[in-house]
Amino acid sequence: MKERILTGDRPTGPLHLGHYVGSLQQRVRLQQTHDQTILVADLQALTDNGQNPKKISDNILNVVADYLAVGIDPTQTTICLQSALPALSELTMYYSNLVSIARLERNPTVKHEIHYRGFGRTIPAGFLTYPISQAADITAFRATQVPVGDDQLPMIEQTNEIVRRLNSIVGAPVLCECQAMLSHFPRLPGIDGRAKMSKSMGTAITLGATENQIRAAVKAMYTDPNHLRITDPGQIEGNVVFTYLDAFHPDAGFIEELKTHYRRGGLGDGQTKKILEDCLQSLLAPIREERQRLMQDKAMLIEVLRQGTEQANEVSQRLLLDVKRALGLSLF
Ligand code: TRP
Repeated sequence: MKERILTGDRPTGPLHLGHYVGSLQQRVRLQQTHDQTILVADLQALTDNGQNPKKISDNILNVVADYLAVGIDPTQTTICLQSALPALSELTMYYSNLVSIARLERNPTVKHEIHYRGFGRTIPAGFLTYPISQAADITAFRATQVPVGDDQLPMIEQTNEIVRRLNSIVGAPVLCECQAMLSHFPRLPGIDGRAKMSKSMGTAITLGATENQIRAAVKAMYTDPNHLRITDPGQIEGNVVFTYLDAFHPDAGFIEELKTHYRRGGLGDGQTKKILEDCLQSLLAPIREERQRLMQDKAMLIEVLRQGTEQANEVSQRLLLDVKRALGLSLF
């Protein structure tokens, strides 16, 4: 039997190159060897977009088109919609009784977000508790492997705490523990060199970016601020152009030579950017075209999602029933 994998994305915008290296490429490979489910996590996206549901609903099909355009194959991967899987919400209710507010407030990712967004006591209850709902996502599919970025490690840890607690209360291994599967390239910086690509900050290159948008993004990319003249020695560390070349250029040997040359001096940012731009243009052109084609057939995208959700409903309802039985709550 193949190992079960669950991953998810919040549909808050179209996916970008950070998703591509961080997870999409890996999913295209994993679908051949694993039993893979991908969740379009619209409920989770609403936990901090409750005032703006349109932003989320507008992006659901965008994300599905992104999946298909990069080669995720719905005959090999189950693509499903979180809000159309009632078992996930029900499980969340049961698990909520097993987690304290103090524990939720200690989750480093949630803690960081609360601070970063200045939520304080105005934090939506759904946002504070989304790790519980994520535990429901993961356990509902009996996933044992969860491919995620390092920011999601606290979610995995919290999921396993819930698993152990429930299993020990009911005295049977109803839920499975899971493991994070970290990708080799956990996080691509934004074009400004900051920690993460962000669509809202304008530092992301989306998978549907036009030729001009790609050109402009590479042009604006952060390099080495002390590399003023071409003849100056340049620094590779923190130089976004090289980070991206490492992530996307197929010829690693060539990039190593390029780095040596750059460090020595005599290689201009215009030249390194040209190499990166060519590389990104040829990577993204077929994805963009495929994406455009797919977006013209919304009915097909909806059908893909509907079918995947139907399969996912069967699996998740079964697990829910197991949990209810174990709790003695299945009188009829
Ligand atoms: N929290 C994840 C993110 O922000 C999305 C997500 C929702 C997820 N449910 C999941 C990831 C289940 C892995 C497994 O990227």
